Amino acid sequence: MPDPTPITEHAVTEAKDAALAALSAASTLAELKAARSAHVGDGSPLAKLNGELRNVPADQKAAAGRLVGESRAAVSRAFEAREAELSAVEEAAQLAEEAVDVTAVPRRWSPGARHPLNLLMEQIGDIFIGMGWEVAEGPELENEWFNFDALNTDADHPARSEQDTFFVEPMSSRLVLRSQTSPVQIRSLLSRELPVYVVAPGKVFRKDELDATHTPVFHQVEGIAIDKGLTMAHLRGTLEHFARLMFGQEAKIRLRPNFFPFTEPSAEMDVWQPHAKGGARWIEWGGCGMVNRNVLRAAGIDPDEYQGFAFGMGIERTLMFRNEQLKDMRDMVEGDIRFSQQFGMVV
Ligand code: DAH
Repeated sequence: MPDPTPITEHAVTEAKDAALAALSAASTLAELKAARSAHVGDGSPLAKLNGELRNVPADQKAAAGRLVGESRAAVSRAFEAREAELSAVEEAAQLAEEAVDVTAVPRRWSPGARHPLNLLMEQIGDIFIGMGWEVAEGPELENEWFNFDALNTDADHPARSEQDTFFVEPMSSRLVLRSQTSPVQIRSLLSRELPVYVVAPGKVFRKDELDATHTPVFHQVEGIAIDKGLTMAHLRGTLEHFARLMFGQEAKIRLRPNFFPFTEPSAEMDVWQPHAKGGARWIEWGGCGMVNRNVLRAAGIDPDEYQGFAFGMGIERTLMFRNEQLKDMRDMVEGDIRFSQQFGMVV
């Protein structure tokens, strides 16, 4: 048995004051509960004094009981008061922490932006779909036969050199990274019933160093129309319509004689931009011509029955001619979202 603590006024007051001091020193509800169990709970000085009451002689019991009882009641009131205070403080802190500032500028996820080259290729596809054409795709890893041979390109044509074209090892695979979108002409003719009216936008690859005006990966759009009785007048009309939708109603085109293995006759096509920043100008936009009879034969078509025209132009150049502030090809390939965002976005 622990030594009995005599119930003196001093002992009770000391125990009470220690309890009150501990309660008011508590700065959180958890500390407050710990202080209560230390000063009022089992084994605490006040609990012990309370336990002693049964040993107090009968004539002093009432006075001692009151003394201990009042102290315990005072501590209990102090606990409740402090608990109310600390609850209010903690609740206020929690509310402050969870507060929503409805006037704050929201942090939004950026919706991103589609690359202007992709947008332009889609827009070009839509223009031709509007004329009843189809959009086709071909592989970027292409068979040399589609990229060159079927397009009537001689074995010793300079474009076939390793300086210009990416050949894929082993060389016996006869695979190249396509150097133009023209192989889609052949693929389209082989996979469709005649007549064929197809545009094929896509990536092409050439061994060029990346600088302001070249990139080893760029984009072209190819067009081919094969039907009965197509002439250069149809070619001209189609390209002029396309040019106007790309560069404005005042755009005109002109054809200058040129050579491409897959067309005969072939032409270089220029577009007239009357409102260019540096003054009206002709810009070189692409190549075109009447599909060479050998190309038709390579696709199993009788050139006496069907004829047609083809054209191809660079998408990067088209984008630059439409947006004169674009002067450096590198901006188009670096993938900086701020570049794309200037063109807005279409969803
Ligand atoms: N493939 C050619 C090039 O990369 C562009 C071209 C010229 C495509 C004439 C054609 C065409 O379809 O008829 O330079």
